[in-house]
Amino acid sequence: MNTIHVLVDNCVSSEKSYAQAVDFLNNSEVVAFPTETVYGLGAVATDEEAVKKIFAAKERPSDNPLIVHIGSIEEVALYIEEVPEVAQQCMEAFWPGPLTIVMQAKPNILAESVTAGLGTVGLRMPNHPVALELLRELKKPLAAPSANRSGKPSPTKASHVAEDLDGIIPCILDGGSTGIGLESTVLDVTTDKPVILRPGGVTKEMLEAVIGRPVLQSMHTEHKQDTTPKAPGMKYTHYAPEAPVYLIEPNQKVIEAIKQLQAEGHRVALIAPQSFANSGAEYFFTYGKDGDTNAMSAGLYDALRACDKTDATIILATVTEAQGVGVAIMNRLEKAAGGKWYSNND
Ligand code: TXA
Ligand code: MG
Repeated sequence: MNTIHVLVDNCVSSEKSYAQAVDFLNNSEVVAFPTETVYGLGAVATDEEAVKKIFAAKERPSDNPLIVHIGSIEEVALYIEEVPEVAQQCMEAFWPGPLTIVMQAKPNILAESVTAGLGTVGLRMPNHPVALELLRELKKPLAAPSANRSGKPSPTKASHVAEDLDGIIPCILDGGSTGIGLESTVLDVTTDKPVILRPGGVTKEMLEAVIGRPVLQSMHTEHKQDTTPKAPGMKYTHYAPEAPVYLIEPNQKVIEAIKQLQAEGHRVALIAPQSFANSGAEYFFTYGKDGDTNAMSAGLYDALRACDKTDATIILATVTEAQGVGVAIMNRLEKAAGGKWYSNND
């Protein structure tokens, strides 16, 4: 399949480019498009044939449901049985923005594979001019997971989408780099207490300030082997480059670790803040300025993908405090590393 790359300007609505994408979508095809978090791979959410193509293109397991993107808060009523008050509060406070809200879906409206048989659906109104313009022109909801092959880091640039899906999907809307760089917060409001199933740009503290009561964080339950995770995506390998990733605190030990690994015959790729540029690793990819968690969030997936283009045999990635957006960063880093931390005794 030939993949068309369409450059879309963030400000100008270049009607022709959107028309092409809208045509593909109306013809049961998939289209990759930018959001403020990561690039999504979209299909009309009521079209089962189209939605199936998302799973095929990504090689995504069919029991992992998709987020449905909508263009306004009003549309929620079309897909949701009863909108809980907390959901309403959160939409008003954070939409458009990086917050997905899981609610009870109205039966038989969305394509079956969108909800993967759960009966619930995650809705989100993205805060990106290209995504919003696409939704406005399409006038239909868009089911869209991140536009990467399953297991790979999510794409934050159109070129990342092309690396994974060129020749497999018909169209990529290129709107430049995404701003936040990590996927949306997934909040489940179907239980008594709202639960964060996946941390993201909208933090626990931000949610609690709006809701006025505690919000649970499901990080502790997601590692349990014996239960089905609430966000099915959490049980799969994620965000992983080819070479093994080890986490390490950002201090002087990084230099010792690199020496030690090189002595064992490794070629090391280091992902760390700017001040570690001269640590002696074969490859260095920066998170940006030291202590800048927004830059770290925006740059993490690009850095993980860059490691795949090297012949590094091991990747060291420095960590950050699990606070604010740091919770989401640490969640993705731990998944990329499969929970492994560097220690010089192994
Ligand atoms: O920022 C984002 O959320 C991006 C952009 C494209 O919007 N999308 C994204 O989708 O990250 P995806 O499919 O890669 O991740 C969706 C996550 C998965 O962990 C999935 O299991 C969970 O949300 N999820 C989706 N629907 C759910 C539901 N009904 N109940 C529980 N978890 C759900
Ligand atoms: Mg994903």
